[in-house]
Amino acid sequence: MAGYVEIFKLGKTYDTPNGPAVIVEDFGLEMGQGEYVCLLGHSGCGKSTVLTMIAGLNDITHGGVIVANREIDGPGPDRGVVFQSPCLMPWMTALDNVLLGVNQVYQHGTAKQRHEIAGYYLSLVGLGSSLYKRASELSQGMQQRVGIARAFALKPRMLLLDEPFGMLDSLTRMELQEILLDILQRDRVTTMMITHDVDEALFMSDRVVMMTNGPRARVGAIFDIPFERPRVRSEVLEHPEYYQTREQMLAFLEDQDHQRHRADVKKFEEAQSTSVTEAIGSAEVQV
Ligand SMILES: Nc1ncnc2c1ncn2[C@@H]1O[C@H](COP(=O)(O)OP(=O)(O)OP(=O)(O)O)[C@@H](O)[C@H]1O
Ligand SMILES: [Mg+2]
Repeated sequence: MAGYVEIFKLGKTYDTPNGPAVIVEDFGLEMGQGEYVCLLGHSGCGKSTVLTMIAGLNDITHGGVIVANREIDGPGPDRGVVFQSPCLMPWMTALDNVLLGVNQVYQHGTAKQRHEIAGYYLSLVGLGSSLYKRASELSQGMQQRVGIARAFALKPRMLLLDEPFGMLDSLTRMELQEILLDILQRDRVTTMMITHDVDEALFMSDRVVMMTNGPRARVGAIFDIPFERPRVRSEVLEHPEYYQTREQMLAFLEDQDHQRHRADVKKFEEAQSTSVTEAIGSAEVQV
């Protein structure tokens, strides 16, 4: 179903010492219920700005976001957020960290039910035997698992993931990608994930949304990812469209790179009183 999430003309202007900076402008996207979209773009283009606006953690300057027929206005339990680091309470156990959110959302459940819900999601992420370990005793990968369990345990309508595997080594990263897909196979939560990794985007998502470079970043291209679910990594890698789509995505990023480079040089030259190329041309090089 299209339009479960509607992002319309989303814009963000930050106040800076040099005046207002328009970072995102006219960002528009519709997502179907249960759809998995990856957001890709160069560093600093405005991906986290878009995601935190949808999360309600960052004020929206223009436009709006509707999730399940409700326009968002600030953060809420209908949207689960996972960042690169999960920000756990280090002195609390894995279970208690998940319970913190569960207790707020399932206020009518009994203590036993809430305990079971938190334990269930921790077991799905592979921490069934570490429920009572303190967060400070967990590895980075285990902490990120707690963060994912915490987000799912709140039964959100939408999941917002900002480079959730960015700090992990490649083996843990691949393991957590598969765990996440596995949970989503049971619980099809509409998901937007930011990543810098083209292969991760191809493996995980239904569509990849490429952002243009800032300032005034917006949606630059959208790629449909055709691989069947549940996804098996080896099959995805062997799919005839894998490398073709990958090349198109890389070509888009490269093109953005060239445009940015040209814009940077032009801006620099305009700021000089004499042309830099002229100065270089007239300089006598001492060797
Ligand atoms: N609070 C703020 N005030 C002013 N400018 C900001 C603020 N937050 C972000 N920016 C600027 O907005 C731009 C986009 O930042 P954002 O963090 O959204 O980029 P990003 O695409 O997520 O980058 P990365 O891939 O490196 O995480 C950057 O130029 C950044 O400097
Ligand atoms: Mg970011």
